[in-house]
Amino acid sequence: MTAEEWVPSDGGMRKLRAALPDCRGCDLWEDASQVVGGEGPVRTRMVLVGETPGDHEDKEGHVFVGPAGHLLDKALVAAGIERQDVYLTNAVKHFRFERQGKRRIHKTPSAGQITACHPWLARELEIVKPSVVVVMGSVAARSLLGSSFRVTHERGKRIELDTGQPAVATVHPSAVVRSDNYHRDFEHFVNDLQVAISLISGAGLRHSGAAR
Ligand code: URA
Ligand code: SF4
Repeated sequence: MTAEEWVPSDGGMRKLRAALPDCRGCDLWEDASQVVGGEGPVRTRMVLVGETPGDHEDKEGHVFVGPAGHLLDKALVAAGIERQDVYLTNAVKHFRFERQGKRRIHKTPSAGQITACHPWLARELEIVKPSVVVVMGSVAARSLLGSSFRVTHERGKRIELDTGQPAVATVHPSAVVRSDNYHRDFEHFVNDLQVAISLISGAGLRHSGAAR
């Protein structure tokens, strides 16, 4: 399973987005309502990577619009980051779920699905070329840092992706939503975002490089 043959190897974000709905790189497109691509300015220094669209994102077609998104919005504000200045995306672009009666229960994507969807994320990072990538949670970490990476051990410090891009790993915002020590975990998450912003060293989040 791999998305490779559907991912354009040239062109910019517009071409990438246009190609995304055709992807049959794994089986997740079959049951999802729609594919959910990354969103935000291409000329930004910061990309944040989550897991997969959830129930809300799958229905609405936008990233981080459900409960995890609301938590992320609050944390970005607390870290002094404007959501509109960063590019937000997911490691896997289709919602994975199990039906329980009328409800659709989120299911973590498999290792094979994460690998299959990686070419989309890799191309987004190639196009945006951010100064820092925020890797949120273990699915994004598996996609970008490999299966032996442990977010809990390595969070909140400067690391590098195998492309050489600077990154900071942290937990997924939904883990903070569910936390039984919410205030502590919220603060820790905000701290990790602040580490990421400190790596940009005073430059603004948006830049005026050539359109890509
Ligand atoms: N969780 C994610 O990882 N991404 C979304 O877009 C929504 C929830
Ligand atoms: Fe393609 Fe990714 Fe969707 Fe699988 S989850 S069909 S690889 S876009």
